[in-house]
Amino acid sequence: MKATAKAHTNIALIKYWGKRNEELILPTNSSLSITLDLFYTETTVEFDERLTTDIFYLNGEEKGTDETAKVSRFLNHVRKLTGDTRFAIVSSQNHVPTAAGFASSASGYAALAAASSKALGLELDGKELSKLARRGSGSACRSIYGGFVEWKKGVKEDGCDSYAVPILDQKAWNLSILSVMIESKQKKILSREGMKRTVQTSPFYDGWLKATEQELRIAKKAIEKRDFEMLGETLEKNAFKMHATTLGADPPFFYWQPATLEIIDCVQHLRSQGLLAYVTIDAGPNVKVICQPDDERKVFQTLNEIDSVKEIFVCHPGPGISYL
Ligand code: PMV
Repeated sequence: MKATAKAHTNIALIKYWGKRNEELILPTNSSLSITLDLFYTETTVEFDERLTTDIFYLNGEEKGTDETAKVSRFLNHVRKLTGDTRFAIVSSQNHVPTAAGFASSASGYAALAAASSKALGLELDGKELSKLARRGSGSACRSIYGGFVEWKKGVKEDGCDSYAVPILDQKAWNLSILSVMIESKQKKILSREGMKRTVQTSPFYDGWLKATEQELRIAKKAIEKRDFEMLGETLEKNAFKMHATTLGADPPFFYWQPATLEIIDCVQHLRSQGLLAYVTIDAGPNVKVICQPDDERKVFQTLNEIDSVKEIFVCHPGPGISYL
């Protein structure tokens, strides 16, 4: 009754931003991501009838009530699927810089979904696993697959048609994703809270929904044609629109820091020199710069000269879920 799974994190090129159902984690729009090779979570889950509560270790350290409660809430979904009532020891190793716009929740819940369902003897296919991971964190449903992945928002109220599908294998198109770290402090407004406030109060939210549907279509076409410029332009516009909705929220908020803008400026400058590089930003101040592998070195060197850049992680498309 023990299983270990490994899941990689992903970066959205077309963002998931807003829920239509908070409880079931159903999104208002479909999204598209690349699973990353460098960042991952390995999780072991062991159910044991002698336990009187769930226990959660993160990077070897036993976590307190709040974090363990989140894991327990997730395990309840798996327990419900099987009718098993036993508690579990969950032990996760996170190879992701946590909570700074690097989505550790994506790899975390994807690995937890895979390990816990396997430990209880469930043989879930990709679709069912994706739906289960989604209950932990929306973006986690995309980490079930490697390469380029689309999360279809679905329209059903019970969420049965809201899951991720693979659209292009990790080996089919190599791109470079430079994760530029400017700040490693805990982010102030978690994505869950940020998107909720935006949906409820931002007059720009309707514009986001309209645009993002169109941008998703363009991004998919660009992936199909391996048209990097078309993909890059689309993903950058999409990220800026997502962040624009937060400025219209009440109270308004934003995730950017001065260094975020410095990096955007630097990438735009590279582009004015003919080098194709584009930025995307999640619910935090760090920036991911996407370019073609031939330009990776030049982009790395240029970004590395910015004083406020602490570290740059160079990623490429990575694999989906695996069991260890
Ligand atoms: O899955 P969550 O709740 O961590 O939300 C992710 C939200 C963004 O990272 C901003 C966008 C995305 O699609 O990953």
